Amino acid sequence: MPEQQPDETMESRLAKIFLARFGAEPRIFRAPGRVNLIGEHADYNDGFVLPAAIELSTCTAIAPRQDQRLHVFSENLQETAEIDLTETNPQRADRWSDYVRGVALMLQKLGLQLAGGNIAIHSDIPIGAGLSSSAALAVSLASALLSNSGRSLELVEIAKLCQRAENEFVGARVGIMDQFASCFGSVGHAILLDCRTLEFQRLSLPASLEMVICNTMVKHEHSGGEYNDRRTQCEQGVAVLKRFFPAIKALRDVTLEQLHAHRTDLAALIFRRCHHVITENERVLRCANALQNRDLATAGRCMAESHASLKYDYEVSCKELDLMVEIATRREGVIGSRMTGGGFGGCTISLVETAAVEEFKRSVAKEYKATTQIAADIYVSKAGAGVTEVEVNA
Ligand code: GLA
Repeated sequence: MPEQQPDETMESRLAKIFLARFGAEPRIFRAPGRVNLIGEHADYNDGFVLPAAIELSTCTAIAPRQDQRLHVFSENLQETAEIDLTETNPQRADRWSDYVRGVALMLQKLGLQLAGGNIAIHSDIPIGAGLSSSAALAVSLASALLSNSGRSLELVEIAKLCQRAENEFVGARVGIMDQFASCFGSVGHAILLDCRTLEFQRLSLPASLEMVICNTMVKHEHSGGEYNDRRTQCEQGVAVLKRFFPAIKALRDVTLEQLHAHRTDLAALIFRRCHHVITENERVLRCANALQNRDLATAGRCMAESHASLKYDYEVSCKELDLMVEIATRREGVIGSRMTGGGFGGCTISLVETAAVEEFKRSVAKEYKATTQIAADIYVSKAGAGVTEVEVNA
């Protein structure tokens, strides 16, 4: 495998790998990971979220094959997979290639005739760290498979079909936030998304701030099952509240007053889950408004309240995330800090003044290491662009 040259981009290196393996020049589609500034576990409750695409991404290189197969090489894992596009009832294999299978299947379910292709994939998004490596993979693949078949779809349809691939084929009941951010990311902007209507607004982030992502490097085993459990608990809350307020379709429709009025009708645990979602929706709007008005103190407070709510009400944080947030919050130049993504490990997001970033990285890594013996990865990112085709010559 060719060594990466110092000034070589990920895309041109992938193009070389592709040429060496498949003997053709590929087209390359890059889709970013995302970080969520606020609005956690809100998307599948029809609520509001405020993610931004990051500069880490997944690239899918593709060139046509004459048969109806996909031959796929994962450069990160050094593994291959073969997919027969004529298979009518494909089954999950519980490996990374399920995402390829799932995305291809959802495109086919839309009635699109997919052409065969050779594919190579490379990502610099850490896997399972809560930065949406799976959504980036799905979105870059969907774009690659579409163009390889001479077809195109609206970006919003790409986001939705990638979500369906995870929901219906991979078996994770995720919301739309990650796929949407990977599709609609915009340089210098976060995206205020209404997950019910999919209406969104690009919100420019202060140029004097960086998004600093601290990876705790832990991922607690039970995360997938716990995630689906949280969804079920929210649905249980809606079922009870609907008895009193028949118009309610999702927790998005419930006010805090209504929730409190029926506190005793809900199991204590279900009350807390609902309380998180309902208060989080309000925090997202308050935070977005504060960022727009450059009221950074309020934005930071919303982030801190969000973390506390995820810790106590929603119970998706863990001691490493709490520690990372606590260490970050004590640093100079920090606007706000909270866990980001599904939880149970993974990353925190801190908004940090540019001038304070170097010292922040150094001292947070040092203190986290001293307490946990774990070396954290810290990524500094501006808000980046959404999925795009990248021009390269191998
Ligand atoms: C994961 C899911 C998203 C969202 C977040 C929590 O990232 O993929 O849909 O639910 O968790 O906010």
